[in-house]
Amino acid sequence: MNNSRHIVLLPGDGIGGEVLAAARRVLELVAPFHGLNLTLSECAFGGSGIDVDGAPLPESTLKACKQADGILMGAIGGPKWDHLRGENRPEAGLLRLRSELGVFANLRPVSVPESLSHLSVLPAEKVAGVDILVVRELTGGIYFGTPRVQEADHALDTMVYSIHEIERITRVAGEWARKRSGRIISVDKANVLAVSRLWRETVSRLIQNEFPDVKLEHMYVDNAAMQMVLDPHQFDVLLTGNLFGDILSDLSSTLAGSLGLLPSASLGGNTPLFEPVHGSAPDIAGLNRANPVAAILSAAMMLDEWNFVDAAESIRSAVSTTLRNGLFTADLVPEGAHYQSTTAFTDSVITNLKLSEPVI
Ligand code: NAD
Ligand code: IPM
Ligand code: MN
Repeated sequence: MNNSRHIVLLPGDGIGGEVLAAARRVLELVAPFHGLNLTLSECAFGGSGIDVDGAPLPESTLKACKQADGILMGAIGGPKWDHLRGENRPEAGLLRLRSELGVFANLRPVSVPESLSHLSVLPAEKVAGVDILVVRELTGGIYFGTPRVQEADHALDTMVYSIHEIERITRVAGEWARKRSGRIISVDKANVLAVSRLWRETVSRLIQNEFPDVKLEHMYVDNAAMQMVLDPHQFDVLLTGNLFGDILSDLSSTLAGSLGLLPSASLGGNTPLFEPVHGSAPDIAGLNRANPVAAILSAAMMLDEWNFVDAAESIRSAVSTTLRNGLFTADLVPEGAHYQSTTAFTDSVITNLKLSEPVI
């Protein structure tokens, strides 16, 4: 097996650079102990891409990304670029990157081990043992439909899904359901939206034909938001479209305790992209206060994708040991309480890594 991998790092904006630096330290330390020979390069992206190169996704960055074995992103956007419109926005660069890479399947896991259930916004007994995989369609829906218009007196976005787009993301959810509990809840708004009615029919047909062993339920998105708080255990694989997946994955972070804990993998094209669920957090940028766990666990998801499962597991275990030892960044402690800085927390994760002799 070829054990060399090239990673493009996209720090982006705000806390993006801070959390990516943490993930990089962990990755570079773990890799040689698992026979993995990493090379890494950093490219301008998002608001920083605009500042350095005049575009949120500079052509040189896109080219480097397409040639990489994996891309690890921090976060993009912020007030400095909020006056920009359309394709010039940092967020448009991220959407274009996802689309150019063809990464239509965004996996956003959230799990709440008993030992960390006290971190949740909800009562510990309500969330202990929760283990949800949000399977979010990432390259279609209202994020990408045309026409998209902003005029002085009106604006228009278009929500469109083809049967092909719905089928391929449903297959991803079906495969994951088989590896997990065998259950999918598909979330839509079929009581109002034509797109959601096609979504529901297509998901039902595909699961019946190709995954008859998987139990499928449908839920309206408004109810799903409430159910996630009332009874999160009913969810295992949560299959949904681009916009609803964006919203529900942020909501799911309250089960674990913070948005700073949730990683993601975006798959389905030639180059996989890994990014925290959170954004650039302008309110805490530059303060060494960001929680790096989401970025570090996104790096672990990259190792999983490359089948370096032991390396990924060693990272997850070091993160959970650190948290179980009671070391928390500011987002996980009450206002005013003592907390670990981003760098101090990362130092502890590194201390807790169980490393044996390097293989290379
Ligand atoms: P946000 O996710 O940046 O922040 C929401 C809240 O969560 C803030 O209070 C922030 O301090 C906190 N938070 C987020 N990540 C954290 C972390 N790792 N540690 C501790 N606290 C954390 O969302 P927002 O404020 O709505 O958006 C800010 C900017 O980020 C916007 O420009 C938005 O478009 C962009 N954004 C980018 C991405 C991405 O790059 N994938 C995702 C979401 C939002
Ligand atoms: C996310 C972000 C992005 C999205 C934005 C920044 C384009 O919120 O990754 O969740 O909406 O997909
Ligand atoms: Mn989001």
